[in-house]
Amino acid sequence: MKHFLTLRDLSQYEIIEILDLAIAIKKHFLQNLSTALMKDKILAMIFEKNSTRTRVSFEAGIYQLGGMGMFLSSKDIQLGRGEPIKDTARAIGSMVDMIMLRTYAQERLEEFAHYSPVPIINGLSDLFHPTQLLSDYLTMIECGIYIPNPYLKAPCVHIANPKVAYIGDGNNMANSWLMLASKMGFELSIASPEGYMPDATITAQALEFAAESGAKISLLHSPKEAVLGANVITTDTWASMGQEDEKEKRQKIFKEYCVDEALMGLADKNAIFLHCFPAYRGQEVSEAVLEGPQSKVFKEAQNRLHAQKGIMAWLHRNRD
Ligand code: CP
Ligand code: NVA
Repeated sequence: MKHFLTLRDLSQYEIIEILDLAIAIKKHFLQNLSTALMKDKILAMIFEKNSTRTRVSFEAGIYQLGGMGMFLSSKDIQLGRGEPIKDTARAIGSMVDMIMLRTYAQERLEEFAHYSPVPIINGLSDLFHPTQLLSDYLTMIECGIYIPNPYLKAPCVHIANPKVAYIGDGNNMANSWLMLASKMGFELSIASPEGYMPDATITAQALEFAAESGAKISLLHSPKEAVLGANVITTDTWASMGQEDEKEKRQKIFKEYCVDEALMGLADKNAIFLHCFPAYRGQEVSEAVLEGPQSKVFKEAQNRLHAQKGIMAWLHRNRD
C-alpha cells in the first residue's frame, strides 16, 4: 500500500504515472465518459487548517470517481480535543477507503500513515503541499512547459529546458517546488530573503535528486536574478497558515519580493504566472499580474480537481 505524503517519497516514474492517470481521467471526464474508478469508496478528509480548493477538489473529485467524500473538521472530531493520532487513524481507517489530512507538522502525517490501514494523502502540512504541485505541473504540461517522458501522454509541443522561478517565502510551497524540480529534472531558481530560505534538509535532498535527474537548482536572494529567462514565475503568501502573528513583520521583510509587471518583464516573453491561492494582491503579487494575460491561476486551481483524481485513483490501484 502506498501513501501520498510528499513527492520526496515518490520516484520520477511514479509521479509520471499519477500525472498520466490524471490526464486520462480529465480527458474522459471532459468527454462525459465515466471515470468511476472508485465506485462506492469513501474518502475521509480531515482538516486541521482552513481550505477552499483542496476541500472542494477532493470532495468533487471522489464523487466524480463514483465514491463519496466525508468532511471532518478537527474542531468537530475528537482529534481536536487531543485524541491520539494512533487511535484516530485506526478507527477512521477501519471504516473508510482513503484519508486526506491537512495539518501542521509533517510528523503528524507520518504517524497517521504508520497506523492507518488505508492510504493517507497530505492535503498540506507546514513542510509540503504535494497535491498542489501535481496540479501545477499538470498546468505546466498543458501550457507546453515540461520535461517530455515516453510514459507521459502529454501534448508533443513543448519548450526545451524549462525554467521555473519561485519568488518569496521558503515555505511548504517552495519546499515542494524543490522536490518536483529535482525529481522531474527541470531548472528551478528560488529567491527568498535571508532567513526565509527553504528548509535546509529538503534543499540538500533536492540537490541529491537533482544530481540524478539533471535538474538545475539555484537558491538566491534576488528576485530579478531568479526570474531571468524563466518560463514559469510563481509565488505564495508571505505568511502561511499558522504564521498569522508574523504578518506585519513579514510584510516589511518581503516588500521587495512582489511579483509585479516589471518583474514579469524580465522573464521569458511567453512566461506564465502560477499561484496556489489564496493570493494577497499588492503583497506577493500585483493585481495586474494576477489578473493579467500571462496568469494561469484559475486553470491551475481547476486542475486541482483532475490532479486529485489522479492521486486517488493511483493510490487505489496500488492497494494490496
Ligand atoms: N491552494 C490551496 O491549497 O488552497 P486551499 O487552502 O483553498 O485549499
Ligand atoms: N503556504 C500556504 C499555502 C496555502 C495553500 C500556507 O501554508 O498557508
